Amino acid sequence: MIIVTGCSGFIGFHLSNELLNNNLSVLGIDNMISSGNVLQNWRLEQLKAKGINFLDVDITNKAELNKKIKETNFSGVISTVYHLAGLAGVRQSVLEPKNYYKNNIMGTINMLNIATEFSGESFVLASSSSVYGSQKKRIPFVENETSEIPQSPYAFSKLFAEKISRDYSNISSLNVSSLRFFTVYGPAGRVDMSILKFIHNIINDYPINVFGNGFQERDFTYVKDICDGIIKSSQIDGFEIFNLGSSKPYSVIKVLSTLKEIINKEPKIEYLPKHFADVDYTWANIDKAKSLLKWHPSTSLKDGLEKTVNWYKNNKNWISSIFEKIN
Ligand SMILES: NC(=O)c1ccc[n+]([C@@H]2O[C@H](COP(=O)([O-])OP(=O)(O)OC[C@H]3O[C@@H](n4cnc5c(N)ncnc54)[C@H](O)[C@@H]3O)[C@@H](O)[C@H]2O)c1
Repeated sequence: MIIVTGCSGFIGFHLSNELLNNNLSVLGIDNMISSGNVLQNWRLEQLKAKGINFLDVDITNKAELNKKIKETNFSGVISTVYHLAGLAGVRQSVLEPKNYYKNNIMGTINMLNIATEFSGESFVLASSSSVYGSQKKRIPFVENETSEIPQSPYAFSKLFAEKISRDYSNISSLNVSSLRFFTVYGPAGRVDMSILKFIHNIINDYPINVFGNGFQERDFTYVKDICDGIIKSSQIDGFEIFNLGSSKPYSVIKVLSTLKEIINKEPKIEYLPKHFADVDYTWANIDKAKSLLKWHPSTSLKDGLEKTVNWYKNNKNWISSIFEKIN
């Protein structure tokens, strides 16, 4: 049995989909709380059609979580817990830090307990490039060089979750990999993240808010590449941290000009002041994932954006209504 927490979220959906496509038995867990609830329901329906076993439960509620998992009556051990549930988003975390600590730290502890209680073999934690904070020199981030002063409650919650997971791995037989994702994008992506918002606004001739001068860079990584890395990382022994990023940072302006080419429409950019919790660039050094996991991200920015634009166009009617509500 495999558990995927956050299965109705963006990455959890793609991961669950891939596991189900490989005929694996997946227990998905999610409390369906994100802002794009219609999108979460859409993702969950796709997974249910493929046979996911779904639990609607808040992982911070330990008693309820344990009760519901026991009620599923599965026999045998949990092979892997892919723990992707949590509150994402650097800027939002500044507004509601307590919620981020509760969901990302307590939620992780509860899932680590489930993994050890049910003799889990491996635990894969969704961490984030945010743990690196602002680096002085513009060089790729290496796993052992994190900022000890996280720049947001979100970054702190991820760094803390990593440290706790390391402890669990040390005191039990659980193998843990902590994966630092770098700006993941793709079909059915998050509506609070830039790429899908950019696509929606360009197609509908709406202005696009760019914070800062637009030359801040992100190591945009296509979701299929991320899922390949997540699955490979479940095979490691002991505790390891891996960067999962394309290792090819692009500026926000470059993303917009690529989208302009794909959609064949000029984006209307409106510049806003830089947000203090935003870093100037992210850039993954992926030597470790390449060598230990044999992981090689293969999707170019242009191909990944094309796939995302096509998905938006095919689902435009209902996905647009989400943006109309949140804008
Ligand atoms: N998308 C990215 O670029 C990115 C980058 C770095 C790290 N991450 C991390 O990867 C993970 C997945 O990210 P995502 O983009 O798919 O986010 P997402 O918001 O789409 O998915 C998270 C899911 O977790 C669920 N969830 C949250 N709190 C929960 C709780 N207490 N109990 C049960 N379910 C809960 C939400 O309902 C949601 O479906 C997150 O932990 C995020 O912090 C994502």
